[in-house]
Amino acid sequence: MIMKNSLLLLALYYAWEVAAQVVLNMEDVVEVYKGDSAVIRCQYSFTQDPSMVMVQWFVRTPEGRRVRISYSDLTVQKVDENTMYTDRISVAGDSDGENLIIMDVKLSDEREFFCQVNGLAAGNGENRTHLKVFDPPEQPVIEAVHSGVSVKNALPSKIATCEAREGFPKPNITWYRNNKPLHPEKGRVNVVTLVTMDLSGLYAVQSELQYKVEREDQDSIFSCEVHYHVPGAILWARSRGVNVTVHYPTTNVKMWREPHEGLVKEGDTVAIRCQGDGNPPPPIIFTREQQPEVKTESDRGVLLLKEVTRGDSGVYNCHPLDLDAVSDKEVVGSVQLTVHYLDPAVVVPKDSEVMLKGESLAATCNALSSLETTTVWLKDGVEVGKGHTLQLRDATFATAGHYDCEVTILSLPGLYTSGSVHIIVQGAPELRDTEDVTMMERMGKWVNLTCEARGHPKPVITWSVVGSPNWREFPKREVEDSIQSVMTLKVTTDTLVTCNATNSMGLETKTYTITSIPIVPSAPRSSAVDTSGVSIAIIIVSILFLAILGSVLYFLHKKGKLPCGRSGKQEIMNAYSTEETTNKGDIVMEMKAEKTEKSGLLKGVNGDKKPPSDQ
Ligand SMILES: *[C@@H]1O[C@H](CO)[C@@H](O)[C@H](O)[C@H]1NC(C)=O
Ligand SMILES: *[C@@H]1O[C@H](CO)[C@@H](O)[C@H](O)[C@H]1NC(C)=O
Ligand SMILES: *[C@@H]1O[C@H](CO)[C@@H](O)[C@H](O)[C@H]1NC(C)=O
Ligand SMILES: *[C@@H]1O[C@H](CO)[C@@H](O)[C@H](O)[C@H]1NC(C)=O
Ligand SMILES: *[C@@H]1O[C@H](CO)[C@@H](O)[C@H](O)[C@H]1NC(C)=O
Repeated sequence: MIMKNSLLLLALYYAWEVAAQVVLNMEDVVEVYKGDSAVIRCQYSFTQDPSMVMVQWFVRTPEGRRVRISYSDLTVQKVDENTMYTDRISVAGDSDGENLIIMDVKLSDEREFFCQVNGLAAGNGENRTHLKVFDPPEQPVIEAVHSGVSVKNALPSKIATCEAREGFPKPNITWYRNNKPLHPEKGRVNVVTLVTMDLSGLYAVQSELQYKVEREDQDSIFSCEVHYHVPGAILWARSRGVNVTVHYPTTNVKMWREPHEGLVKEGDTVAIRCQGDGNPPPPIIFTREQQPEVKTESDRGVLLLKEVTRGDSGVYNCHPLDLDAVSDKEVVGSVQLTVHYLDPAVVVPKDSEVMLKGESLAATCNALSSLETTTVWLKDGVEVGKGHTLQLRDATFATAGHYDCEVTILSLPGLYTSGSVHIIVQGAPELRDTEDVTMMERMGKWVNLTCEARGHPKPVITWSVVGSPNWREFPKREVEDSIQSVMTLKVTTDTLVTCNATNSMGLETKTYTITSIPIVPSAPRSSAVDTSGVSIAIIIVSILFLAILGSVLYFLHKKGKLPCGRSGKQEIMNAYSTEETTNKGDIVMEMKAEKTEKSGLLKGVNGDKKPPSDQ
């Protein structure tokens, strides 16, 4: 029943409206940027043609009063005087409506504009449009806190502020961490927003992010985004990203030495470093396990050990000095330092040692070291042995000398030491060549005899000569434990020369037996010389005979006792020639032999007259 009545009423109302009224169509909302012009249209349609149409525009003051701002009818179109819109609006009518144009829109223009249409008998009506004004805010400005933020703070701490200025309507600010939105979350994320409006009515939105940092946030990038309305859309602008310094306690330390590689030897400089994972890095306390009471503090986490010795070997520890550390476990680092060493070599026997010839000796060379050593023995720069012990067996004079031992470490070439020992071999003199010498020398010849002896103490060489009286000794030459003596002797008769080399240990003797050879041999020495010698004698005799014969013939001829003609002389000559011819082969041989003998003679003469040094 009630339902029926309602339907009836609605039907009546509709009929009335259609019968005699006007319909005003207006945009519910018109959106416009501040400073632009806004056009608000008021469109009317009458069910009956009106005889005239009056259009009036109104606004409501902040106090709630309605104020008309313009009026128009068929004859006039006028903007009302002395209203806040007097200078900024105009109206433009057409056949089925009117436009209100608002120029240089201000924030205060955000309000409703009413359009009232009066068609008298054709009816009247009113509609309205809400004008919305927009002014985009500036780019958001973000500022991170400069001080470090500790993970130990119980509540979220201020991380950054973000401000969006001069926007209308009020913009919104949202926060991002590593490009993911941060939503407020109890105990973890708080966002505190402060909104202010300046005199011109623009908003400034300030947002503060409070956040409970974790260790990973040292790498986090925070940013803010401002969202704001513009006509027909919502836009946004993102700030730059900022990071914060996160403070967190040290939970682990790493400890190592530098140089990292290789072995450390005495004299090296070693840095022991300790690095914690805390931020900021706390001061580090260094201790040694051997002396826990000695503490060294370092801000940079370095313990510098200069010119280390073996005493610096040991285990080193480091502890971070975190004053407010929430330490359920003690954080400590540890590193072992081993300083290697090589002590000076000790050689036994020391300095020098006297051995008797034939004796044996074991020389040792030892150097205390933390590492395995390698020892080599050198004599005159030549390697003679390896190992700590050098065996010198059955010493001879050749054994004597200077021995160096060199101790090195294969794994640590920087370590080196050496020692030496001088070995003296004592013994009776030894002649270089003990064979007794027998020689035959031509009489008058100078010969050199050499005697070289070795021994310790240094031998004395003396010569004794039985026979030729003419001899002398050249100055002796001495080299280390050997001595050389040269004597020169003129062989005049068979001679026995003895060289004595003596020292306190004994004596060695060598003899030279010299048989002298006379210059003109009394007996033929060789058949060749013999034949030529006889031939020469024959030739000389022949020549002498011929000469005498010639002289006699000449004498007789002069005296006239002998008839002398050309033929006679010729005869003699012929006779000689004949002999020559017949004996041609002999003569050639003889000439040869003469030549040989002549040079042999010359040699002999020279040997006689020249000093021995020339031979
Ligand atoms: C105002 O205009 C709107 C849009 O054209 C329309 O829907 C509404 O009915 C109108 N109101 C009045 C009271 O005429
Ligand atoms: C700002 O936030 C409010 C409330 O969450 C929301 O209604 C409004 O649309 C937001 N404005 C923008 C511009 O996002
Ligand atoms: C922020 O990050 C940059 C680049 O990763 C870095 O250089 C700078 O030190 C950081 N600043 C802070 C406060 O962590
Ligand atoms: C050489 O030694 C022998 C044997 O001792 C000795 O008889 C001789 O006189 C020595 N001769 C010289 C020149 O010293
Ligand atoms: C003997 O030795 C001396 C000195 O070394 C030398 O000048 C001389 O020529 C030598 N004489 C002989 C015959 O070798």
